[in-house]
Amino acid sequence: MRSILSVKAAAVLATCISTSTASAQDVEVLHWWTSGGEAAALSVLREDLSESGYGWVDMPVAGGGGSDAMTVLRARVTAGNPPTAVQMLGFAIQDWAKEGALSNLNDLANEQNWSTVVPSALQAFSTYSANWVAAPVNVHSTNWVWANSKIMAELGIEQPTSWESFIAAMQAAKDAGYTALAHGGQAWQEATVFDSVAMGVGGPAFYKAAFIDLDSDALGGAQMVEAFERMETLRGFVDENFSGRDWNLATAMVINGEALFQIMGDWAKGEFVNAGQTAGEEFKCFRVPGSDGTVTFNSDQFAMFKVEGSAAEAQLAMASAVMSPEFQVAFNIVKGSVPARTDISDEEFDACGKLGMAQLAQAAASGNLFGSMAHGHANTPSIQNAMYDVITAHFNGEYDAATAAAELVTAVELAK
Ligand code: BGC
Repeated sequence: MRSILSVKAAAVLATCISTSTASAQDVEVLHWWTSGGEAAALSVLREDLSESGYGWVDMPVAGGGGSDAMTVLRARVTAGNPPTAVQMLGFAIQDWAKEGALSNLNDLANEQNWSTVVPSALQAFSTYSANWVAAPVNVHSTNWVWANSKIMAELGIEQPTSWESFIAAMQAAKDAGYTALAHGGQAWQEATVFDSVAMGVGGPAFYKAAFIDLDSDALGGAQMVEAFERMETLRGFVDENFSGRDWNLATAMVINGEALFQIMGDWAKGEFVNAGQTAGEEFKCFRVPGSDGTVTFNSDQFAMFKVEGSAAEAQLAMASAVMSPEFQVAFNIVKGSVPARTDISDEEFDACGKLGMAQLAQAAASGNLFGSMAHGHANTPSIQNAMYDVITAHFNGEYDAATAAAELVTAVELAK
């Protein structure tokens, strides 16, 4: 039976279990896909594997961004009992590869020509020292707004094209008694919003300097202060019960017509689809005003831990299933993401999927594609967590904007 473990319970369980519960023909999969839309997407993979004779042992650890899942993973590996496959993001894959913990998938990758179909921005994370160590499932991007079409029509709101019109739209919704911005007060969600707010203020050069190159002038400068000020403006548009709310419950507020907008990665689309809604009809998607033309991306990949014998065979079956073009379509139309292969038609994708695929290709071609700070693709997990702490403390009123920018410089220095 599928159960969602709290981090603490899962960690305790993990240290207690010294032998795997997976049999030779099973894959045990650690992941954080626990919302309705995410679970629906995961069942596409589970069914694919079951058709090929592989069973599924589920190891879900709730918590967007995956920090909690990574804590549980560490406990499992320390206990000498790694799961067969682990959902993982960007720099975390590189960290585990550096420790020598991941399997080498080169034979399969060569046989299936992964290097010609996976974009180089993703290969940078799926390979380590020229060896394939993970199979990319998708490409998500974080700089999206999800909007309730009915509220927009009722209030005469057009798709905002500037930060000012975005704020004006939210003010109109607030005045009409709606929640203007659906938000869940968790550090990773605040960081997700900050990805696009910072991009909107400073553009690609600033985003890269601050979050990827960790340049102190960018981290602590005037544009960062302005980004924090914009977060304060957004804070004025969330409802009073935002604290601790899960992201999918915030999405449900837009789905149910309680809230006008949510700023969230395109996994949110999976929730609309799971609720039977259609892109361009009940809901709309557009890039966070100011961040148009850029894409801040993250890619879910399955990293395979070193295991013996037939378990290794099951890993290869899973990696092969994940990389198949049919799977990449079936999974990603449900998940809200776009394929991790460049050779796939957008025909079966909805309006937001088509837009996402086109914008990803354009951003990659024009040098405007950047790894998401909030989702492990701009820097190492320790730097990412240091940024989370400052961003969330500021959102919750602990610092003013100028102090937050100064704290960001210090926190990053300490985490380096
Ligand atoms: C993952 C998505 C997931 C989201 C929320 C992100 O870090 O890449 O696959 O849906 O977190 O859980």
